[in-house]
Amino acid sequence: MPDTRSDMLLPEHVTIKPSVLYFGTPVVLATTRSPDGSTNITPMSSAWALSDKVVLGLGMTGQGAQNLQRDSECVLNFPSEVLQPNVERIARATGRNPVPEAKARMGYTHVADKFALGGFTPVGSEIVGPPRIAECPLQFEARAVAIHHAQGDKGSGHLSDLAIVETKVLRIHAHRGIVVSGTNHIDTARWKPLFYVFRHYFGPGPDLGRNFRAEA
Ligand SMILES: Cc1cc2nc3c(=O)[nH]c(=O)nc-3n(C[C@H](O)[C@H](O)[C@H](O)COP(=O)(O)O)c2cc1C
Repeated sequence: MPDTRSDMLLPEHVTIKPSVLYFGTPVVLATTRSPDGSTNITPMSSAWALSDKVVLGLGMTGQGAQNLQRDSECVLNFPSEVLQPNVERIARATGRNPVPEAKARMGYTHVADKFALGGFTPVGSEIVGPPRIAECPLQFEARAVAIHHAQGDKGSGHLSDLAIVETKVLRIHAHRGIVVSGTNHIDTARWKPLFYVFRHYFGPGPDLGRNFRAEA
């Protein structure tokens, strides 16, 4: 039997305990309806696609998670890399009022209108109540179909009260500029998503090649 102990085979690797595990996923601006009828924008990045669903990881202290528990409809708006300054402008804001103590300690303040703060424009959705964000080239209208509650490791610095939200995607809007003309395919030479990597923002970098199943 070969010895597979990592300390013998990978001497250049060390054990670390980072405060977050944000290995690099696209930024999503989730629009949801608050109880007063206004629209909230939640910047987030713990999101991944699974067939016709997108699964979201949200802290329960945020307004976005509270809204999705009450009203399942949302829009997942995907900003391009050029929108990084706009995203960071709303990063310290929460729709929660009053701001929960845990969020206040992290430096969050309540902002009722994140569209104005971030320089975003609301535009009506076709199926769901919350509006889309006009500046985002890709927008998924969606509905939460299941919410699982989870606990992070208290005291570790990670969020502790979490919602894992399964959303079903109902309609997809893509700016003409990122669609291969006359097809349903995203033109990956033109779509420049914004990534969140260990709390830093990145663009996609050069195309390194296609998967054998790529359609465009
Ligand atoms: C780029 C970025 C990514 C983030 N990713 C997440 C995430 O995946 N899940 C989460 O709960 N919070 C995430 N946050 C933090 C929330 O945006 C923050 O809690 C905010 O207050 C939520 O707004 P809300 O309370 O109005 O919903 C992220 C923030 C930024 C700027």
